[in-house]
Amino acid sequence: MAEEKKGADRFGTVALSEDGRSLVIIDQTLLPGEMKYIALSDQRDIREAIYRLKVRGAPAIGVAAAIALYLAALEISESAPQADEDEFFRRLEAAKIYLQESRPTAVNLKWALDRMYRHALSLKGAGAARIAASMRLEAEKIRSEDVDVCRRIGENGLTLLKKGQGILTHCNAGRLACVRYGTATAPIYLGHERGYDFRVFADETRPLLQGARLTSYELSEAGIDVTLICDNMASSVMQKGWIDAVITGCDRVAANGDTANKIGTSGVAILARHYEIPFYIAAPSSTIDFETETGAGIVIEERSGDEIRKMWYREPMAPETVRTYNPAFDVTDASLISGIITEYGVLRAPYDVSLKELRDKIEAEKRKEGDL
Ligand code: MRU
Repeated sequence: MAEEKKGADRFGTVALSEDGRSLVIIDQTLLPGEMKYIALSDQRDIREAIYRLKVRGAPAIGVAAAIALYLAALEISESAPQADEDEFFRRLEAAKIYLQESRPTAVNLKWALDRMYRHALSLKGAGAARIAASMRLEAEKIRSEDVDVCRRIGENGLTLLKKGQGILTHCNAGRLACVRYGTATAPIYLGHERGYDFRVFADETRPLLQGARLTSYELSEAGIDVTLICDNMASSVMQKGWIDAVITGCDRVAANGDTANKIGTSGVAILARHYEIPFYIAAPSSTIDFETETGAGIVIEERSGDEIRKMWYREPMAPETVRTYNPAFDVTDASLISGIITEYGVLRAPYDVSLKELRDKIEAEKRKEGDL
């Protein structure tokens, strides 16, 4: 069961508890009203927390899933210490599928689970207890890499910006969506440390209000100049000349550069093109899905109509039975993207070429390290 966890790392969004027996997350559904850490050890609670967006944002979901699969391995190895490895792997694979089904669009979920499972397979023969122990280290590695990757995205993103600029962002691709720094917000945080004095505009991001509840919260907590606007005000602030660049995060980049991100992002990109404002996507390489050729192949999560009809309102704001359509993400065409900011640098169009070059580079690095 979920229980309140006090004294956890105040600055980490997602972590493994010190005793290595639970996943510790900030319950983001309570923000901005309450900053509370919860500790989860049951697989059902973890899957529910991902589905309910207690932990959300592609990288944070990936780290949470990695930790969750380690916890599953630990439980399997302890509950049936005599079980043979085939049984261990059967149950581990079932846990992997169970977790993966929680949210379909953010590819980091699958990426992290696949990486954890591959790691376990590479240790076949070592015994369940040893495999589980090593999976703990792998999950912790995925978590610490996230901090490093986001910082590098921040450095690369900062090269595109100038002091005093106005930046618009959509949804929350901030530190609450990662472990620290965030992706879209990483250049903003680094710029803030270096006196860039950015003026940030945060779209509220209907229907789940990640921009209002999370982005405006975390940026103002950090002392950054942030102005909250409703989604339908983006055109107005762009028209006034207040926006010099748009930076958003993303949940999946297809091999041709089409990009899925929070619903409304593609509209912001179209507006940015109209006003000739550069539109950047910030994405760790773990968010690139080289197996999906174009945005048309990305599965878009659909969520309950109640998120539109009544959630956040004191009273329902629509007839209870009215039909709704509530896609959680949309796809921004690669042609609208001025650059994809990764930890390896800023990729430019044509993205099928620059993404392929990046893939070759990553594979060469892995081969050198003996990971392939
Ligand atoms: O539904 P959410 O809140 O998980 O959606 C989050 C986003 O769309 C983010 O922009 C994306 O995951 C990138 S987070 C660095």
